[in-house]
Amino acid sequence: MASKMRSLFHDPDYYVKTFHSYYADIYNKFDVHASWADRVFGEKIVPQIRVTLGEKEEFRVLGIGSGSGETDVIMLTKLLQRFPLINNRVVEPAEGHIAMYKALVQSKAHELHGVNCDWRQQTIDQYEKAGDLTKFHFVHAVQSLYYVEDPDRSLMYLYNLVEPGGVLLVTLSSSEKSQTHRFRVGLPSLQDDLFKHIATANIRDSLDRRGIPYAEYAQPSRIDVTKCFDPSSEEGAQALDVLTHIIKFKETASAELQAEVMQRLAEFSDKRGNKVVMINDWDAVVVFKPME
Ligand SMILES: C[S@@+](CC[C@H](N)C(=O)[O-])C[C@H]1O[C@@H](n2cnc3c(N)ncnc32)[C@H](O)[C@@H]1O
Repeated sequence: MASKMRSLFHDPDYYVKTFHSYYADIYNKFDVHASWADRVFGEKIVPQIRVTLGEKEEFRVLGIGSGSGETDVIMLTKLLQRFPLINNRVVEPAEGHIAMYKALVQSKAHELHGVNCDWRQQTIDQYEKAGDLTKFHFVHAVQSLYYVEDPDRSLMYLYNLVEPGGVLLVTLSSSEKSQTHRFRVGLPSLQDDLFKHIATANIRDSLDRRGIPYAEYAQPSRIDVTKCFDPSSEEGAQALDVLTHIIKFKETASAELQAEVMQRLAEFSDKRGNKVVMINDWDAVVVFKPME
């Protein structure tokens, strides 16, 4: 039975579908990101960008693993308040996510006036191998470095793509606070799973080792995993697929593995009345690259 288990990455369409219903059902991510964009991105990050552009010059943004674009669009609208012309290069391997991002940009065309998108359906490693040497004023990897071949190397690659005076933003689960992270770290991993169990301490270590200063902003977040404990819930089953990173986990995992996972889920979550909630806090690590 267990040999039939496959990582979510083997089915990009399924990955896109499960991620979307997961976010819609159990994690009001886009609300969290909207308040983060006001409180942190708009107030603490955008004003620190030390870039002076000519009248017709575009501010260059590189997004890595942008998904369906909701978070990017929120950041772009904040950036537009300072930089009226933006070139937004999106590196995202999932075709379905790019299609959703394009549709979102179209539906928000009035808010994104001045933004020119440049789509690259690639992984970061494919993008790097293609050898484009363009530098950017703002580079971000929001919840995506879990999926790259070598997070430390990719982090430095991205750092080197930032123009002097520009900003690198990486968000990942909080090493110290996230129950989601601790739940995943102990799961028996699939050989074919590309997911890396990294969190913000790994990013801090990489930067500390190289003496690169950074700022850090903590973001509280919760996910409601109550439905995962309901054996008849379709949404609960999909949420388990995202949490374990396994396609149709409840249909393909052995009874022993399912019991182990449910026990871990109970261990790394908290009962709140009739709900079961997981702490899903994440941190933004931000490097403000000095002027040369
Ligand atoms: C958890 S989602 C985050 C999406 C988006 N940044 C957000 O927070 O709304 C991770 C994204 O990384 C993308 N991804 C997966 N492997 C990748 C890779 N090797 N390089 C770049 N992006 C990747 C996935 O397709 C997915 O869209």
